[in-house]
Order: sequence, then structure tokens, then C-alpha cells
Amino acid sequence: MINEVYAAAADRYAAGSMPYRRCGRSGILLPAVSLGLWQNFGDTAPLERSREMVRYAFDHGVTHFDLANNYGPSYGSAEETFGRIMHSDMRPYRHEMFISTKAGYDMWPGPYGVGGSRKYLLTSLEESLRRMHLDYVDVFYSHRFDPDTPIGETLQALVDAVRSGKALYAGISNWPAAEAARAYAYLAARDVPCLLYQGRANMLDRDRMAGGELQGAADAGAGFIAFSPLAQGVLTDRYLHGIPADSRAAQRRTLPQERLSDELLGRVRRLADIAAERGQSMAQLAISWLLTDVRITSVIVGASSTAQLADNLRAASAPPLTPEDMRRVEDILA
Ligand SMILES: NC(=O)c1ccc[n+]([C@@H]2O[C@H](COP(=O)([O-])OP(=O)(O)OC[C@H]3O[C@@H](n4cnc5c(N)ncnc54)[C@H](OP(=O)(O)O)[C@@H]3O)[C@@H](O)[C@H]2O)c1
Repeated sequence: MINEVYAAAADRYAAGSMPYRRCGRSGILLPAVSLGLWQNFGDTAPLERSREMVRYAFDHGVTHFDLANNYGPSYGSAEETFGRIMHSDMRPYRHEMFISTKAGYDMWPGPYGVGGSRKYLLTSLEESLRRMHLDYVDVFYSHRFDPDTPIGETLQALVDAVRSGKALYAGISNWPAAEAARAYAYLAARDVPCLLYQGRANMLDRDRMAGGELQGAADAGAGFIAFSPLAQGVLTDRYLHGIPADSRAAQRRTLPQERLSDELLGRVRRLADIAAERGQSMAQLAISWLLTDVRITSVIVGASSTAQLADNLRAASAPPLTPEDMRRVEDILA
């Protein structure tokens, strides 16, 4: 049982433990490592564990918590869990926290619960605020580009979310590079510059780093925040000795077991050797590899235990990879 009365650690901003990186050309600094609540904070997860992780994160300098309307499972329940933790523990610290949510993928039945319409985005934001017991979020994202909605309708909904005070900043996630460029221009022209591009990036998924998304964000003065930095757990020691019963791959929802080929795990073992030489865990190497790119503002990790989170947070202040480390990693991934 964790302590009922929460007082944040006095040394949570102690020099060096959690570096803060500037988000594009904005005034915002984000922690090098942020916490995402996609999978392990829903109504099937123990509340006490979720609470412990949020508190541990904040105590160690994690100011940014990333959510979306449909995180769970079930949909909406990660925001509800977060709302309960806001209510029980975090309320006095709201102004020290940077909280995001999103809408774009399927959320509720019928034509208004998915996509990029103004109707969906703005009603979903209201619902997210209600579930999280918040008056505003710090970033409201369009979770994906919707080719069936006029781009201006989606983007104007972000502008109006900010103008209404229900979001402080606008962001886009998973938008193709060309549409992202149009989004940056649209939003800037309305004095609501895009704060963040959120995209999947990790050692095994480098399309957005090699393609236009990362550089496009940098050119537009937006930050880039990387999700699934551990490739959902593949880039850790989680699967090096089989598939644990409590793992994401065992649940067969978003991480297909077929992905875990001997060939891939062989590469992860070789990467883990580099990690060991650096005095890091495999997960830490995967995070350090991303943070070596100065265009990446922050890395959003997931975790199913406080021990995993603690392991990941230690990467925040680790030295970047050397050019020689980078070359060896490239050889393994080639
Ligand atoms: N914008 C989008 O479309 C989008 C999409 C996906 C994610 N995201 C955001 O990114 C966040 C992170 O995504 P993700 O959960 O896929 O990230 P991830 O960090 O790549 O994977 C997290 C999983 O890896 C395992 N893990 C984490 N740390 C570990 C460690 N130190 N040692 C061993 N295993 C470890 C855990 O798996 P087990 O559960 O098996 O223990 C954990 O659930 C999400 O919560 C969300 O906020 C955004």
C-alpha cells in the first residue's frame, strides 16, 4: 500500500537528474523522458500501481504525462485513472505538470466518434477534461491526419481549442510529412504555432527520423516527441528469454508475437552487448540512442511497473552515444 498522503519529493528538480530540453522554438521545456499512459493505466490495471508510477515519475522530474481519449483498455479509462490520481495526489502540482491528450482514432460509436471533424475533436476534448478532472490540457493533438476531413476543419478545431483556453498548445501526431507542413503553416498563420509533432521513433522504426517528419518539425520550430521508444518492449531484455505471461506480447493486442523472430532477438542481444559496455540496460541504450539526436525534444516511455520506469528514467541523464557507438548500432540494424 503506498502512502495515502502525497508530498512530492523536494529534490525532484535537483540539478542534472532530469534534463529539460527546449521544445522547438517555443518557451516550453520538456523532460528528456516523459511518461505515456497508453496501455498500462486503464481499468484493467491496478490503480495503486498506476498511482505509484505517476508519483514516482513526478518525484524524479517527469513533468510531462501523455494521454489520449482512447487509452486504456477500456477506451477512456486511462484518462479516468489519471483523473483519480490528479484528484487524490497531484492537484497541488497541476501547474508544474504538462499534460497532453488527443483525438483522432476510434473512440465512441457512430459517425462523430472517429476522424478529424470539428465535432469529434472538440466534443472529445470536453470529455477528456471531464475524465481527467482538469480545466485545461497543456497540449491537444490531432491524433492522426484524416484524409476524409478538410484539413482546415481539423486544424481550425485545434486553433479554437487553444483560443477557448481548454488547451494551451496544439500538436499533431502521425501526420504524414507533407500534411504536417501544411499544418505548421495553417497554425502559425493563426498565431497558434504547432508546439509538437508526436511520432513513432525507435532503433527499429526509423522512418520518421529518416523521412520528412523529424526535420519538418525542426524546420517549422516545432518539437518532436518520440513514442514507443522501446518498440513496445522489444528493445529491452523483456523477450530475451521467452515471452513472459504478463508481457504486452502475451496479450497479443498491439505487439504480435510473430514480430519476435530469432533474427530480431539476435540483433537485440548484440545491441544489449553495447549497452552493457556503456553500463546501461538495453532499454536505456534505446532511449539514449534517441536522445543523441538533438532534434528530439523528449521520449515518451511506457512502463508496466515502477522498476521499469526507474530503469528508463536513468537514461535521461546518461551521456549521448559516441560516433563509434552510433556506427556499431547502425551495423547491427543494417
Ligand atoms: N501518438 C500515438 O499514436 C501513440 C502511439 C503509441 C504510443 N504513444 C505514446 O507513447 C507512449 C509509449 O508507448 P509504448 O508504451 O509503446 O512505449 P515503449 O516504451 O516502447 O514500450 C513500453 C513497454 O515496454 C516494456 N518496458 C518498458 N520499460 C521497460 C524496461 N525498462 N525493461 C523491460 N521492459 C520494459 C513494457 O512492456 P510490458 O507491458 O510487457 O511490461 C512497457 O509496457 C504511450 O504510452 C503513449 O503515450 C502514442
